[in-house]
Amino acid sequence: MASLGSTLSSTIYRLNLSHTRHTIRMFRALSRNIRPQKRSSHRRLFISPFSSANSISSTSNCSTNLVFNDNLVVLGIETSCDDTAAAVVRGDGEILSQVVSSQADLLARYGGVAPKMAEEAHAQVIDQVVQDALDKANLTEADLSAVAVTIGPGLSLCLRVGVQKARKIAATYQLPIVGVHHMEAHAIVARLCDRDLQFPFMALLISGGHNLLVLARDLGQYLQLGTTIDDAIGEAYDKSAKWLGLDLRRSGGPAIEELARKGDAQSIKFTVPMKQHKDCNFSYAGLKTQVKLAIESKNIDAGIPFSSASIEDQRLRADIAASFQRVAVLHLEERCERAIQWALEIEPSIKHLVVSGGVASNQYVRARLHEVVARNSLQLVCPPPSLCTDNGVMIAWTGIENFRLGRFDPPPPAVEPDGCQLDLRPRWPLGEEYGRGKSIARSMRTARIHPSLTALTQASEYQSL
Ligand code: KG4
Ligand code: ZN
Repeated sequence: MASLGSTLSSTIYRLNLSHTRHTIRMFRALSRNIRPQKRSSHRRLFISPFSSANSISSTSNCSTNLVFNDNLVVLGIETSCDDTAAAVVRGDGEILSQVVSSQADLLARYGGVAPKMAEEAHAQVIDQVVQDALDKANLTEADLSAVAVTIGPGLSLCLRVGVQKARKIAATYQLPIVGVHHMEAHAIVARLCDRDLQFPFMALLISGGHNLLVLARDLGQYLQLGTTIDDAIGEAYDKSAKWLGLDLRRSGGPAIEELARKGDAQSIKFTVPMKQHKDCNFSYAGLKTQVKLAIESKNIDAGIPFSSASIEDQRLRADIAASFQRVAVLHLEERCERAIQWALEIEPSIKHLVVSGGVASNQYVRARLHEVVARNSLQLVCPPPSLCTDNGVMIAWTGIENFRLGRFDPPPPAVEPDGCQLDLRPRWPLGEEYGRGKSIARSMRTARIHPSLTALTQASEYQSL
């Protein structure tokens, strides 16, 4: 049985350990939900995601190998970028509710995410989004086992809104709290969708801000095979859509995907990025520029919305969209092909490639990557589109997986001390870089980056030896 009496606080946020109510509550939560399968002989130390980089929280002495009943019920909160999302998920994977409030109108108006406005938009809807998630699940906060919340990476101002809400609920209802890595959640939600998906597996995570190829060795343990040296593919979709005068109310990606179906993908010969670099890194800044130049050379006026453009102009725009998408995805295909070879050399037992993140909801992306995976005798795992774009389910589920391993913090105190600094991780790498995948261009931009989730997980395991 897990003993929680020795749970330590983070250095950022000192908890009163004589305050035993939360300890008892957590003990109850664990004893309701956890049955150790194999008793670990050593104490398991864990650097909580809520702790500062150098502080170590020792949680329970539970083994990493645990069997659970399905009684866990976790609320997940996500506010790292432009969607305010919450969901309630059970330990058996049943999604009890899922609510997303999108800032698409703001995006359409300003053509991108403005942090201050995004923060205000989150603050306006967060209470309602969480309440709706609870109502739809037919539950109250008192029925929850824990609260999971994204603490990074993302925009600090936006992360803060979700973290403050999560801490308020956790403090009021004396619930444990799990700090979640947004990109880990994009990958781990695939394990909710496909119960056969075991570690190790590969993941391609493609969103508005990230382009990651990782080898997922275990929960919290990722080897980064490749990342972008400049922009992510989602950013390239969004900017191309904006410059083509498309309706951005559903974000740029779906608008380009739809228009590309009507265009000739071979009509414009964009160059595939980074051909000469035999690694697994990505670059989309140059392709963005190529699209801009193509638009200018065809005299397309993005000021004229697509719906008001002439038939000929619409055809030209469709050709650019289709040609852009072909090359943008070809870049993914080439890097995945190489990453699969690398990953199989490191872990020959790999059987799956997970593709997740907003861009993974694109049908063309899925179809092309399916070919790559099939050629290499692997299986493709793509969560449904609603779980690829930002959502609360992925946060709740990753919270559940971490909670099961004892990776959580005790409830915050009811009154936060003055000047209490929240642990937010705007720039938080997921994994350690694989030697062959290191990019000189990117390593020059490493200032103010938080230690990776994997470094923290490994440090905690080292401490437990
Ligand atoms: O994961 P996500 O929802 O948020 C971030 O973490 O960034 O990804 C958002 C990105 C946006 O760039 C959006 O345009 C793109 O995913 N996206 C798509 C599609 N749906 C969303 N890109 C291409 N095709 C789509 N169908
Ligand atoms: Zn995301």
